[in-house]
Amino acid sequence: MDHVKLHDKTFKPFIPYEKIISAIDGVADKINQDFRGCTDVPIILCVLNGSIVFTGELLKRLDFPCQLVSMKLTSYEGTYSTGKVRQVMGLTASVRDRRVIVVEDIVDTGNTIFDLCDILKGEGANEVRICTLLLKPEVYKKDVKLDYVGMEIPNAFIVGFGLDYDELGRNLKDIYVLDQ
Ligand code: IMP
Repeated sequence: MDHVKLHDKTFKPFIPYEKIISAIDGVADKINQDFRGCTDVPIILCVLNGSIVFTGELLKRLDFPCQLVSMKLTSYEGTYSTGKVRQVMGLTASVRDRRVIVVEDIVDTGNTIFDLCDILKGEGANEVRICTLLLKPEVYKKDVKLDYVGMEIPNAFIVGFGLDYDELGRNLKDIYVLDQ
């Protein structure tokens, strides 16, 4: 792994692909333990775009009947954060009376999952669980329970494995951190 340049910033290697994959194996094992043998069809909710790579890896490890649903959120209006999450693309299927496992790439302040839980409850979901590949515990301020966490990382800006810097870097196989 070498340094990568995206727009005006340089990033250095941080989490190698193999380590990401073993974190996903661990998360998938826990979800399978909780859902194996279920009689309903839980929804796996991919929060676009950042979670797309993680969701693909997770989905193929799940061994119970499940339905993939997507939605796209943003907290930005133009170039500044409104602090309020907005649906850019709504849910691709109804979650009414369903159990939902939200798949997030990263939980930072937790604003996104906090608002998302509200949206899903409002849409009639009967249970919402949160699965995130990465968590920044130093900045997480909400009391929403994080049911499945792949890895905890320090408060630093990262890219790769679906995560972007201004839309670049999602295609990187490994995770990189901003080189300051
Ligand atoms: P929140 O602060 O928990 O609401 O995080 C909102 C969103 O910001 C996440 O779903 C990511 O898409 C993005 N995000 C947070 N931290 C990073 C990072 O280090 N790199 C890239 N995107 C991030």
